[in-house]
Amino acid sequence: MKSPDLDRSIVETAYARWAPIYDAVCGPVMVKGRRAAAAAARAVGGKILEVGVGTGLSFDDYDLTTEVTGIDLSAPMLAKAREKMASGRYPFVRDVQLMDAHQMAFADATFDCVVAQFVITLVANPEQVLSECHRVVKPGGRIILVNHLYSETGVAAAVERWAAQRTRTLGLRPEFPFARLRAWAQANKDANLIERRKVAPFGIYTLVCFQRAVASAA
Ligand SMILES: C[S@@+](CC[C@H](N)C(=O)[O-])C[C@H]1O[C@@H](n2cnc3c(N)ncnc32)[C@H](O)[C@@H]1O
Repeated sequence: MKSPDLDRSIVETAYARWAPIYDAVCGPVMVKGRRAAAAAARAVGGKILEVGVGTGLSFDDYDLTTEVTGIDLSAPMLAKAREKMASGRYPFVRDVQLMDAHQMAFADATFDCVVAQFVITLVANPEQVLSECHRVVKPGGRIILVNHLYSETGVAAAVERWAAQRTRTLGLRPEFPFARLRAWAQANKDANLIERRKVAPFGIYTLVCFQRAVASAA
């Protein structure tokens, strides 16, 4: 049986449920991946867009060398992010907005860096979201993704295929392969895949970085 794909309503329902417990459950488990992605974004610096910012767990990983804007589809997740902003600890977080990453309201070439932490494998149309990220990043800017990607072979792949049937309603897509990200870059002449690396210590997460060609126009 083919598992149903993720759509907007599944994601919204799933993350309304996740919001109250998200930081406690996903904070420690994903911290290494989150830090690696934010460190790569800080190396670019400037205006950073966090796509699928969620509850704002990544705010701790940025500093005053950056200006962070976040978007998310889930109002309950964003409410948690706004609580963090209200603490006053994150003056470099400029704004968070309810927005679908498939169709962003930002002008072309707005950001120096676009980051999506644990997001690209669960959006309804990952290629469309990548193209939107590419549109809003400046020429020479970077798109940084971090995620668990499908193992493709061996026992882990079999487990992920099995889990795929059962985890859609949790807003997850565990069988998402790297090949899909590479194919998107190959189909976009201004998008260059410049890094793919496993994140230490266990290599569960993969960091992928694309750079928009300097001479490109949106
Ligand atoms: C696994 S959480 C990751 C949250 C955060 N990036 C982190 O690392 O803690 C995925 C987030 O992506 C958001 N999301 C899913 N689809 C989206 C879309 N199309 N546009 C914007 N956000 C989306 C969800 O609402 C959720 O907050």
